[in-house]
Amino acid sequence: MASTDKNKSVNLESEIFNPSKEIIEQAYIKQYESIYKRSIEDREGFWAEQAENLEWYKKWTTVLDDSKPPFYKWFIGGKMNIVHNAIDRHLNTWRKNKLAFIWEGEPGDFRSFSYHALNREVSKFANIMKSMGVKKGDIVTIYMPQIPELAFAMLACAKIGVAHSVVYGGFSVEALAERIMDADSRVLITADGGWRRGKIIDLKSIANEAMMRSPTIEVCVVVKRTGNEVYMETGRDFWYHDLMSLPVASPVCETEVMDSEDLLFILYTSGTTGRPKGMVHTHGGYAVYTSTTHKLVFDIKEEDRWWCAADPGWITGHSYIIYGPLINGSTTFMYEGAPNHPFPNRWWQMIEKYGITILYTSPTAIRGLMRFGDAWPSRHNLESLRILGSVGEPINPEAWRWYYKIIGREKCPIIDTWWQTETGGFMITPLPITPLKPGSATRPFFGNEVAIVDNKGKEVAVGEEGMLVIKSPWPGLARTIYKDSDRYREIYWKDFKKHGWYKTGDSARIDKDGYIWIIGRIDDVIKVSGYRLGTAEIESALVSHPAVSEAAAIALPHDLKGHAIHSYVILRAGLDGSKELEEDLKRHVSHELGPIARPETVDFVESLPKTRSGKIMRRVLKARALGHDEGDLTTLEE
Ligand code: PRX
Repeated sequence: MASTDKNKSVNLESEIFNPSKEIIEQAYIKQYESIYKRSIEDREGFWAEQAENLEWYKKWTTVLDDSKPPFYKWFIGGKMNIVHNAIDRHLNTWRKNKLAFIWEGEPGDFRSFSYHALNREVSKFANIMKSMGVKKGDIVTIYMPQIPELAFAMLACAKIGVAHSVVYGGFSVEALAERIMDADSRVLITADGGWRRGKIIDLKSIANEAMMRSPTIEVCVVVKRTGNEVYMETGRDFWYHDLMSLPVASPVCETEVMDSEDLLFILYTSGTTGRPKGMVHTHGGYAVYTSTTHKLVFDIKEEDRWWCAADPGWITGHSYIIYGPLINGSTTFMYEGAPNHPFPNRWWQMIEKYGITILYTSPTAIRGLMRFGDAWPSRHNLESLRILGSVGEPINPEAWRWYYKIIGREKCPIIDTWWQTETGGFMITPLPITPLKPGSATRPFFGNEVAIVDNKGKEVAVGEEGMLVIKSPWPGLARTIYKDSDRYREIYWKDFKKHGWYKTGDSARIDKDGYIWIIGRIDDVIKVSGYRLGTAEIESALVSHPAVSEAAAIALPHDLKGHAIHSYVILRAGLDGSKELEEDLKRHVSHELGPIARPETVDFVESLPKTRSGKIMRRVLKARALGHDEGDLTTLEE
């Protein structure tokens, strides 16, 4: 068995797809090695050069302050605002009338905004927030469907120097309430609902329940999207369109001058403990990192129509629907709903309709569309596409080849980008000129030195599995965990403190050509359909049900989702498991955390494998479920 696997990986490693002559001719970067070498030898010089592509109110005096590791700072002394770069500066150029956003709603409605129009919407809403007394130092929570107002709200916050915390619209009550409270938000921006597979996701009801649990909210702004009946609390809840028609919503608003290191946003992500971590990103370094990676990795040209089919509520959307593309003056496309609604050709139809040139999506979406067969995409003219991208989890070679052949018609390189909420932008990724191997994220982006090591920090041999670390800081790196710097140090920097390396939490291997193959998480983080969840969050949701006394959650491979959640529960004394209770527990987790966290299975058990110190040995549960060897059980309690 082991030897077959090994042969398989050897075969994979030798399957190479070379870029076409056209792709090479068009590319900004025609030679990787020499630029990479230079970016490592003079990292600060490389990043300073990239930062020159942005507009600064006042230029930085120091590129990198590494005097207090791991708390790195970039572009010290620089004054700027990411919105000045994403909007204001384009208004003095011909781009003023270029489309910034194209948006299609799930029911088929359509809106588009030039940079001029985008500025108007953002400025008006920024003035409204100012009039509410929102100011620098505040964090506004945004809980929205994928509609243009989500982008306006984020940009309006950044424009007036207020931080945003976007909570993914698929999250439920508990997740939203917890995030509002951690950020001490006084303002919540939400909508009546959003469309998903022809149904209304009733966001306002979830928000109402969350606001009851998190009393910090004083004002709730509600965008009317779906027109369903919602409860509006007098004095607290206001319709967005009412506010936007007030005289105070003037279309002229000064952009706040920010320090490079001032807070831009926090974005919560799952880790190994129950509490989500609010990753902190700042104006300067994040702006430089997202715009540089977007432009060079996807070879962004003025005439491109860029579609990052992620939700803006995740880092992918923050960095590559909103900030990176707008800083580069691109036209960015956003779609509200499900990929297969009303039919499995929805995406292909939109690519044809809008002339999308670059599609960036996840393996789970590709697998989901692949299963409907080739007939759906082949009905459409996809000739406009020139580059394709993937993110979120390792892409299985079968999905890679389908994407390459059927969607890319063997002409489009597949850019498999490895990165994390914490990294702000792409870390390991091919460029369009890179010879590709299906399933490998290939080589590090400029400025990044990575290694695959054992737990002592020694590099593992070619082909061996080890821990992926990043050896040096980069401008997009999250500065800390909001209100919890100790945890930041502990999670990412403690294990390789001596070396000063960042621990990614992923395992990987490197092949003889220096290509990196990501294997998956080494901690208790689960990726379901590319969404990141912590086993501990799911377990606490289960335990919050009155019938449950203890719970464990693990991830098992799943054809479509990549991984699916399987859970084990010990019921309170005197209770018996039943089909109804199983359903009820699934519903409960879904209600607390959101539908993505719904367990695939709930098994009622008498006991859970634990270490003597009481930690659940999820590895043992997993091995048992897969029928694998349970490994070393010496720490298992009798
Ligand atoms: O395990 C890796 C996986 O997603 C994790 C980061 O999740 P999140 O912070 O939600 O960010 C997702 C979007 C950037 C990583 O630790 N991952 C992300 N991209 C890839 C990947 N695994 C393999 N290949 C990728 N291209």
